Amino acid sequence: MTIQNKAEIIDAILARHRDKPTRLMQILRETQEELGWLSKKTLSMIARGTRQPLARVEGVASFYSFFHTEPLGRYCVLWSDNITDRMLGSVELMREMCKKLWLEPGRVSEDGLVSVSSTSCTGMCDQGPAILVNYRAIPHMSSERVGQTVDLIRSETPVSKWPAELFSISDNIRRRDILLGNISRPGDALRAAIARGAQPTLDEIKLSNLRGRGGAGFSTGLKWETCRNAEGSGADPEHYVICNADEGEPGTFKDRVLLTAQADLVFEGMTVAAYILGARLGMLYLRGEYRYLLDHLESVLARRRKDKQLGHGILDHAGFDFDIEIHFGAGAYICGEESALIESLEGKRGVPRNRPPFPVTQGYLGQPTIVNNVETLASAALITMKGGEWFREIGTEKSAGSKILSVSGDCTRPGIYEYPFGVRVAEVLADCGAAAENTQAVQISGPSGVCIASDEFKRKIGFEDLATAGAFMVFNNKRDMFLVARNFSHFFAHESCGFCTPCRVGTTLLKNCMDKIEAGHGSEYDINEIFKINHLLQAASHCGLGHTACNPMFDTLQKFRPAYQRRLNSLAFEPAFDLDKALSQARQMTGRDDADAHLKNTMEVKA
Ligand SMILES: Cc1cc2nc3c(=O)[nH]c(=O)nc-3n(C[C@H](O)[C@H](O)[C@H](O)COP(=O)(O)O)c2cc1C
Ligand code: SF4
Repeated sequence: MTIQNKAEIIDAILARHRDKPTRLMQILRETQEELGWLSKKTLSMIARGTRQPLARVEGVASFYSFFHTEPLGRYCVLWSDNITDRMLGSVELMREMCKKLWLEPGRVSEDGLVSVSSTSCTGMCDQGPAILVNYRAIPHMSSERVGQTVDLIRSETPVSKWPAELFSISDNIRRRDILLGNISRPGDALRAAIARGAQPTLDEIKLSNLRGRGGAGFSTGLKWETCRNAEGSGADPEHYVICNADEGEPGTFKDRVLLTAQADLVFEGMTVAAYILGARLGMLYLRGEYRYLLDHLESVLARRRKDKQLGHGILDHAGFDFDIEIHFGAGAYICGEESALIESLEGKRGVPRNRPPFPVTQGYLGQPTIVNNVETLASAALITMKGGEWFREIGTEKSAGSKILSVSGDCTRPGIYEYPFGVRVAEVLADCGAAAENTQAVQISGPSGVCIASDEFKRKIGFEDLATAGAFMVFNNKRDMFLVARNFSHFFAHESCGFCTPCRVGTTLLKNCMDKIEAGHGSEYDINEIFKINHLLQAASHCGLGHTACNPMFDTLQKFRPAYQRRLNSLAFEPAFDLDKALSQARQMTGRDDADAHLKNTMEVKA
């Protein structure tokens, strides 16, 4: 491709985004899709076009793991590396693929054709092991599918021409309740809101006791009220509505299914919020791994515009103007944190902001903004139709409504289960085909959540007991809970955004401790180190990622101590590096086994 062609492509992308610096993420993504990678020259052109310093554009491009500032294979294969993928054989299958391609993991083949590497959980845990090929998800990987994809890569078949069934992703809805069983017509919630009025609709949301489904469980009514009461600032005051569909917590995939099966309900919830706040723009922040949902979501939005459920004068209500844009993340778990998400939407590195101020008063572009989870917004639409009283009757006193669980791991029926809050873990296990007597643990709410052992299966899902963003990973008696925690420690070290030292260093130290124990060099000293690092992370981290990064180690040390104990070498300190072992191969090759061959023997001789 000539420089001129490149420039034309970049100019067209910049023009599509009106050269706006806030659209930098989309500009980078689209440019990479066209050109394969983001060279320094390409980034310079984008910097010039968006009138920003090159360093800033480079800073953004280097932050996100799905942007590449070095050439990649024309086929970029990424294996999902959640523990559930591993339990389904992903490590062995990835090795098989690399062997077939004569390739080392993480390297680009010499002809530039292909690279194979791993990525954090892709949100397909009920149909793993999963891979992304040029960021398109393929579930259910098997030896046969490895062979098939290798053949397609070798024959250089464009990914757009690969057999459609490879990319077929199931919803796996196993149990429906109020959300997944919703049969209302698109527009019903909007009609109810307009008939009732903005303040009375907000009153219904407050009355319902709806709490955020993204993890923290903050009152949705209170969030919306604070935002509604906050004044926009500057010459162009606005309020904004953001739907958080980043869904990066390993083991969670319920937002993907809600957006597939009930997209109207989610968009309806965003539009009701806009009506209450007086917002004119909404943004759906969708994780890059769910790129395949774009056509479906765009077609729902187009229909809603046609049916006057979006656009100017919604349902002929003068002054009710609102539209929704879809923005993509680019492989950064931290962008699920609401202030990091807003930074990302503004075209910056996804680094969490200092809070306060909170987004409800100073969010997107410094204006009052609500950020809500997909499930929260869908629930708000239902409440608008059926009333707050109806909703608070479902579930428990402190946890009104239903909860959608993403069930994966050792069970015969993985998938999506929606229950009224208050359901016991044992009931979910029975429904998903995990025999309680063979199950040793369930990881609730992903690595940042809590790991419960079999004597806790009577506990209930709900804010008063087991609060969860939705992940429900099942581990049978044969699983090694140390390896589960080790996988999660790698996840956090990989996903730490690096902004604050306690988390940047602490998560890496944790990972190193777990690797050291796994390599057989662990001792009680390392266990104490884990507790010390936990203290540091809890006390000094800037955001929730750092605060929760030690949870998996903490829980498994308390509940599955033997899994650690049997790996410990001694009670005293044991160095991570075994000089004897490291040199043994060299000694064998050189035939040198004399006293001066290495340090230990030299010292022994001298002594
Ligand atoms: C590291 C981190 C990752 C998060 N990821 C998500 C996410 O993927 N989806 C989500 O809705 N909330 C996520 N949250 C919570 C959000 O910051 C925020 O609380 C939520 O979107 C608010 O919506 P809700 O009130 O509807 O729950 C995350 C928080 C942290 C600290
Ligand atoms: S705690 Fe970790 S993820 Fe959060 S800001 Fe600090 S480095 Fe980034």
